[in-house]
Amino acid sequence: MLNDQMRNIVQQMPKAELHIHIEGSLEPELIFALAQRNGVSLAYGSVDELRAAYAFSDLQSFLDIYYAGASVLLKEQDFYDMTMAYLVRSHADNVRHAEIFFDPQTHTARGVPFETVINGIWRACQDGPISATLIMCFLRHLSEDDAIATLEEALPFRDKIIGVGLDSSERGHPPEKFTRVFERCRQLGLRLVAHAGEEGPPAYIETALDVLNVERIDHGVRCLESPELTARLAKEQIALTVCPLSNIKLRVFGEMEAHNLVTLLDAGLVATVNSDDPAYFGGYMNDNFLAVFDALPLTAAHARQLARNSFTASFLAPEAKRAFLAEVDQFFASASAGNNAII
Ligand code: ADE
Ligand code: ZN
Repeated sequence: MLNDQMRNIVQQMPKAELHIHIEGSLEPELIFALAQRNGVSLAYGSVDELRAAYAFSDLQSFLDIYYAGASVLLKEQDFYDMTMAYLVRSHADNVRHAEIFFDPQTHTARGVPFETVINGIWRACQDGPISATLIMCFLRHLSEDDAIATLEEALPFRDKIIGVGLDSSERGHPPEKFTRVFERCRQLGLRLVAHAGEEGPPAYIETALDVLNVERIDHGVRCLESPELTARLAKEQIALTVCPLSNIKLRVFGEMEAHNLVTLLDAGLVATVNSDDPAYFGGYMNDNFLAVFDALPLTAAHARQLARNSFTASFLAPEAKRAFLAEVDQFFASASAGNNAII
């Protein structure tokens, strides 16, 4: 059980979020407000009815509702409002920096221009209360040609994107399906990440590393099924962006007590805690931290490691990274020097 001191530590410590799909931050209330603003009709009669539909059995059952929710996003201001709501909410959780995924194909397939999507999200990142950068994700259930066409559309906005990722339905869509487009992105100097080992096997983590040359693995929790891969991830200090509440809602683990986060950390892996799709999975960053610290034997040393990992694994410039890491160290030094020292 989580005591008050640990609760305060995990809530107040500075942290970075590295795995957040901005379309997954769209709260039911905002979905309804945008539907009304844009004259879009929804299959659900009320906010409560929509929320009641958030009972998922696996990744695909979630994705079906997630793509339906995104259908209310039509204008640049809609993308701005969604992103600003996330940034303000994350600021309250002491998130200092976020690397935000967005799924342009979800919108361009509906006739929303690419520039509408990126300009709205990017402008909010400029105006928001925390540091934020953008990672454009390709939908892996679509073809590589579709991903290449999306990259072409993104080229005029190259300076607004720090990297690219790979998301959507994992099973049956291995990373190697996107070899050419990731190679082009690498040549363009974009940073590379991919979802792998969420529902898919450890082999997908290996091909994401060896064929796509990604620098971080999103989720990656199934790596423990392969001792060789686990040892490699620890040796090469490849970060995993773990999303605990997501893993429970999508039944990757039966219950939080069975989550493997402690094992990952104690094996020396650069694991981080993230929210994935906070509006759908029951919470933002601190909800995720509190859930794992409540259910698992995690210590203040683990909290410090998780906060440090989040900045170490980020795509921030070295100087900014050093400054945030110094902030984390200062926070924990103060916490351990207080009257009720916990470390
Ligand atoms: N898109 C949004 N959330 C996702 C997840 N958890 N896995 C794959 N694709 C996603
Ligand atoms: Zn994700």
